[in-house]
This record gives sequence, C-alpha cells and structure tokens, in this order.
Amino acid sequence: MSEKKINNIVPPEVMKRTFDFSEKMLRLNEKRSIERGEKMRAYVLTFGCQQNEADSEKIAGMSRAMGYEIADTPEKADLIMVNTCAVREHAEKKALSTIGQFKHLKAKNQALMIGVCGCMVTQEHRREELRHSYPYVDFIFGTSSLHRLPELLYEKTVKGKRLFCPEEEEYQVAEGLGIERDSTYRAWVSIMYGCNNFCSYCIVPYVRGRERSRRMEDIVSEVEALAREGYKDITLLGQNVNSYAKGMEYDFADLMSRLSQIDGDFKLRFMTSHPKDASRKLIDVMAENEKIARHFHLPLQSGSDKMLKAMNRHYDKAQYLDTVRYIREKMPDIALTTDIIVGFPGETEEDFEGTLEMLREVRYDMIFSFIYSPRKGTPAAEMEQIPESVKSERFSRLLKVQNEISLSKNLPLVGKTLRVLCDGVSKNNEELLSGRTEGNKIVFFHGESSDEGKYLNIKIDRAEAFALYGEKI
Ligand code: 5AD
Ligand code: SF4
Repeated sequence: MSEKKINNIVPPEVMKRTFDFSEKMLRLNEKRSIERGEKMRAYVLTFGCQQNEADSEKIAGMSRAMGYEIADTPEKADLIMVNTCAVREHAEKKALSTIGQFKHLKAKNQALMIGVCGCMVTQEHRREELRHSYPYVDFIFGTSSLHRLPELLYEKTVKGKRLFCPEEEEYQVAEGLGIERDSTYRAWVSIMYGCNNFCSYCIVPYVRGRERSRRMEDIVSEVEALAREGYKDITLLGQNVNSYAKGMEYDFADLMSRLSQIDGDFKLRFMTSHPKDASRKLIDVMAENEKIARHFHLPLQSGSDKMLKAMNRHYDKAQYLDTVRYIREKMPDIALTTDIIVGFPGETEEDFEGTLEMLREVRYDMIFSFIYSPRKGTPAAEMEQIPESVKSERFSRLLKVQNEISLSKNLPLVGKTLRVLCDGVSKNNEELLSGRTEGNKIVFFHGESSDEGKYLNIKIDRAEAFALYGEKI
C-alpha cells in the first residue's frame, strides 16, 4: 500500500483552494476593518479533549490568517467558532446550551458569524437538531473537514446561505494549516487522527473516523520548530498512539526515538496508549530516552475481565498487569495514570469490586473516572442499563478509594525537591502559582508571574490527594 493511501493527505490542489479562500476572506476583513476603524475578531470555544484543543489552535490559526484578531470573550467577536465534544452526554448538553446563549449576540450584531464544528456535529441527529432548532448557526463542519473553514465562512458571508458541510468521503490529514498556540511553553502535536478500536461504549470511531497518521517527517519538523521556539513540554496526540503509522515502515516507538534526538530542554509526552498494544519496544525507547517524560497514561476502564470483554477492549487484567510490571521494571520512578468507567451496562457489584481491587494493586498516581454515558449508535447504548443511583454510588466509592491511594503516594514527596514547569498564577487562588511535575502532578507555590513557562525547583512541604504544595528554592 502506498504511503499516500494510508495517510490520506489532503491533496495540494484542495489545500490551495483553502488558502485561496483564506486570502479572499483576508481581503474582505481588511476592508471591513478599515470601514469600521477596528479589527475583526474571532472567538474560539473548545469542549472536550486535547485533540479538540489542538484542532481549535488550528481554527484560531486559520482565523488569524483570514484577518481576525483573537478575542477573549464572545461578546467582542465577529466570528464565534464552537468546537464540540460528543464523548459523554454532559459535554453535548453544555455545548448546546452555550450555543443557545449566543442567540442574543446575533440579535445585537447582524454580521456576527457562528460556526459549529467537532465531534458532536459529526452525528447526523445533532446536525439536524442544529439545522432546525438553532437557525442562527451559520455553518457546520465535521472533524475531517477542518480545512474547509475559510471556504464555508467566505461562502456564507458573501452568499448568505447557511452551509452544512458534508463529511469528506475519505478521512483526511491536512498539513500546512496555521496554528495559533494557546501557550508559549506547552504544545500539542497531533500525530494521528481517528480510531479503529470500536470500544463498545465509545462514540469516537463514529465521529472521528478511521485511523490515519501524519508522516514522520512532518511531525519531526513541527517538533524541531517547537524546540527552537523554546517549548518545554510537547504532547503527541492520538486516540491510540500505538497504532501510529500502521502499514508503514516505521512505528510509534521509532517516532519517539527519532523525536528524542532533537536538541532542546523539553519533555515529550503522549496520549493515549491502548493497553492491548502498548509495546515492549515503546517502553524500552522511553526507558532509554530522558527526553520522554516519566509518565504513562494507560486507560484500564474496568478491573473485571467480563466487563473488558463486553467493552471490546481486547486485553484482560493479567495482560494489563504484565504491561504495568514491565513499565515499572524499566522505569521505577514512572507516574501511572488511568481512565475508569463505572456503571457500564451489566456491571455487577463483583465487577465493580474488581475495579477497586485493580486500583489497590496498581496504585495509580491519579485516575480520570467517568460515569458511563450511553452514546447513540454505539453497541453499549443498546444493552440493558444499570440504575443511575447505583452508578453514582459506585462512582463515590471509587473516588474515595483512589483519594487514599493518591494521598499515600504523594505524602512521601514531602521534603523532596521536584522540578516543576510553572503554569503561572493559579486559577483557583491568585496568591499562588501552579505548575506540573514531570509525572504531571500539580504543585502550588509562591512566586512571580514572570516565572510562568520556566522550570523551577520546588521543595514540597505539604501533600494532598490531588495537589502538592511547596516553596521555590
Ligand atoms: N461514557 C463514559 N465515559 C466514556 N469514555 C469514553 N466513552 C465514554 C462513555 N460513553 C471515557 C473513557 C475514555 C475517556 C477519554 O473517556 O474512559 O478513556
Ligand atoms: Fe474510544 Fe476505545 Fe478508540 Fe479510545 S480506543 S477512542 S476508548 S474506541
């Protein structure tokens, strides 16, 4: 199979159309800016995961190329882009109610354009809902049509007709779109898109399509540029990074190895690795390269073999534990984190106890836990559901068990000095700065706002389950 076929790179002539429409939009916006004596502005709102954050940085980059400044509130914007998530019902409800609130802005500013994209609108029933119940939404495009933004925006602006972009025939990878990064020291780099796994609870394979990977040379150039610009923390993104470049002559471990050769004071991370194919080769490459952060996120989902089978996860507890053992053997100081779903259809008390047991056995540094949310079109949504009260009772018990484990893992860090990448003033407490350790633990400390983006040594003097506190030394 040729590389082009596997990658489905958007062909140059299609990208040229994108850049041509972007130019047209730029000229239009320059004219409008002069007429009103003020720059045109775009506001980008993101729901969901890091992949969406990364896509939104491209949307902001494209907006900038079309002559928009980036606004910090929707009220100031002439273009509002909402990048939606579909992974749980809660995320969809939040996106819809936020879009609903933008109606009054449209009433104030007739020229305001509202575009909705991302996973939620890649589902037919949501597109229909937006078409009929949200008439002030101007255009819509799905996850594989990001590069169509300039065209849709231009056509809607000039012709006035609402546009509901059909999903691309082939799921594609668009190279060369501008990226307006949120941070000057942490960066997302998408290395692949889509998922082929079809875990029975998950909507992602339906809304993000089949797996396709970027070429290694494109990723290497992007990371080299980030390193030159002084980025310190670079996260490679994919729904299942272990499937990177399947069918090509290199794999994910080769990519990590190649990226580790790049000069600069930065750490590499990745999300997410599926336990069924987290390879020994990858773990060896991590252990050999200090550039790769000592953090492994390995989503378990459930500690019951019966549930893992029903979830279509293709591993059992024993195989999972074997991988954990190998990771810890090679990197004893590794931070391990996971995702857990409680209340999957058919989960019995015994199945749930199995999950608690796995938490106690693996002793994760942190977990991301979710109450199962039925997703229309997935097999699990058709199975017999368990009552909400049971789900939430189990969810609280899960948190309680993990809090004790997290605390007991954090307490021995008191008195130690940790290297922390500072994220600036804490969102919850203006008196403190916050930062993250290599293992991604959050640390609070006193300092100057100019510390943001720097590596600092922090002596830990207090530990809680979710956070460490200390002072700069
Ligand atoms: N309900 C609850 N949690 C889900 N996740 C994915 N789909 C669902 C769902 N339908 C969780 C999984 C996944 C994480 C990103 O979101 O734990 O690893
Ligand atoms: Fe969803 Fe499973 Fe794919 Fe992750 S690996 S995106 S949980 S289907």
